[in-house]
Amino acid sequence: MIVCRSIAETRKIIAGWHRESEVVGLVPTMGFFHDGHLELMRTSVTRTGKTVVSLFVNPTQFGPGEDLEVYPRDFDGDCAKAREVGVDLMFCPEPDDIYRTGHSTEVSVTGLAAGLCGADRPGHFTGVATVVTKLFNIVQPNYAFFGEKDFQQLRIIHQLARDLDFPIWVVGVPIVREDDGLAMSSRNAYLSDKERREALVLYKALMLIKQQVLDSQGRSETDSLIRMAVELIEKNGSCSLEYLSIVDEKDLEKLSIVEGRCRALGAIRVNQRIRLIDNLALYN
Ligand code: PAF
Repeated sequence: MIVCRSIAETRKIIAGWHRESEVVGLVPTMGFFHDGHLELMRTSVTRTGKTVVSLFVNPTQFGPGEDLEVYPRDFDGDCAKAREVGVDLMFCPEPDDIYRTGHSTEVSVTGLAAGLCGADRPGHFTGVATVVTKLFNIVQPNYAFFGEKDFQQLRIIHQLARDLDFPIWVVGVPIVREDDGLAMSSRNAYLSDKERREALVLYKALMLIKQQVLDSQGRSETDSLIRMAVELIEKNGSCSLEYLSIVDEKDLEKLSIVEGRCRALGAIRVNQRIRLIDNLALYN
């Protein structure tokens, strides 16, 4: 596996691959790999000829007071894991290379980025969309793989690729969960054992909604489903709810009735410190 810090060198290697008609897959990451990341890499390795993983903790997607400084990092461990799953190139730029002095361009996707996580984290999705646009331009992949855990992010990247005419297939990869259902996340590393047990309440709330929908076999009203799930979360002392919504998967608009391809999405804070997200499709 090649580890490359320079944009110019990365471009040169990938241009060579394209000349040889290789199909190139990109897995954008912020590192501290868990099985969710590795699943994205495995999917790319299976579906493409060359897999590039970018490892860049993107400062512009963190708001003031968020966890940029303490975001978990393990460069050597990440390289070993990526090598093991068959990644061909790890692109690991420095912030100054990505945002050179005088950088003044932003990419913002309106509409899809406004609600849900976008409402709680102003500017977050502009940071994501800007860095992903830059990564798409640098790597010029044929495919790009993103996890469904960040479902809003995935929809925003779909929209971005379409609107900016990137000839890239954006592929969503299902959430990888721990045995008890907790969605894998680099931020789970912040949880104590007790917090780890309590954090499961978000998944339980989403499952409760899904079970009700499947049991009712008819048109369920979203208000009552949300009320029931919120009650469950509020009973759990250390977790506070940021949002819980049932939305149409395509436009992320809130629904009043569960119908079609819809999804429940939520975010909680564990002990005010640790923000975790999760989601579940409400159809089979
Ligand atoms: O999902 C992430 O890890 C990040 O938001 C991404 C897509 C790598 C952009 O920094």
